[in-house]
Amino acid sequence: MATPLPSLSPLVLLTPTHQVRPFTCGNVEIDRFLHDRAAIEQALRLSQVYVTVDAGGAVCGYFTLAPLAVRVEPSFLASLGVGAVPYPSIGGFLLGRLGVATALQGRGIGEALVMRAAQIAKREAAFVGGVFLAVDPKDDRLMQWYAMQSFVALGGKGRRMVLPLRAVP
Ligand SMILES: CC(C)(COP(=O)(O)OP(=O)(O)OC[C@H]1O[C@@H](n2cnc3c(N)ncnc32)[C@H](O)[C@@H]1OP(=O)(O)O)[C@@H](O)C(=O)NCCC(=O)NCCS
Repeated sequence: MATPLPSLSPLVLLTPTHQVRPFTCGNVEIDRFLHDRAAIEQALRLSQVYVTVDAGGAVCGYFTLAPLAVRVEPSFLASLGVGAVPYPSIGGFLLGRLGVATALQGRGIGEALVMRAAQIAKREAAFVGGVFLAVDPKDDRLMQWYAMQSFVALGGKGRRMVLPLRAVP
């Protein structure tokens, strides 16, 4: 069942009626993406953009989801609890951008958005396949934050982490 977001609207797809300009989360790249690129990338179907808004329609938090194929490495399969597969890559989803309005941070909204992203990915996987939700945390603190939400680090270069969709309620 979908987890309610604390005192905000249910999660909806970004539409032109939503106010994106006032949104600021403390990360310029994530702000600019919502201001300038999100609607374009959504129209191109490069990713899908989910928002939660206040009573006036201003975006309070958002994330993007996109399909992702990852090259099969034994460590990757082990992180997912999957045995050997006869394919060069396997599919899942990428939680690409995530932001919560600065004034609302620290109230569990970020965690609720991650959980909803994982639930949407799991739902889609039931139709088209897919075994993981991946994230690329920008720093070590964020890695810890995702680790608390059951994401597993792949190790090696980069900070990519994955959540096996079979572990999502
Ligand atoms: C990361 C972010 C989405 C978390 O949203 P949130 O609603 O504050 O998250 P929650 O309330 O569910 O969790 C809060 C916890 O996360 C921690 N946290 C918040 N921002 C963090 C960050 N940038 N890095 C690591 N930990 C962070 C807080 O310390 C808090 O822990 P505490 O309750 O023990 O103090 C939000 O801080 C944000 O929008 N940051 C800027 C954009 C960003 O960095 N996005 C992630 C890209 S991978």
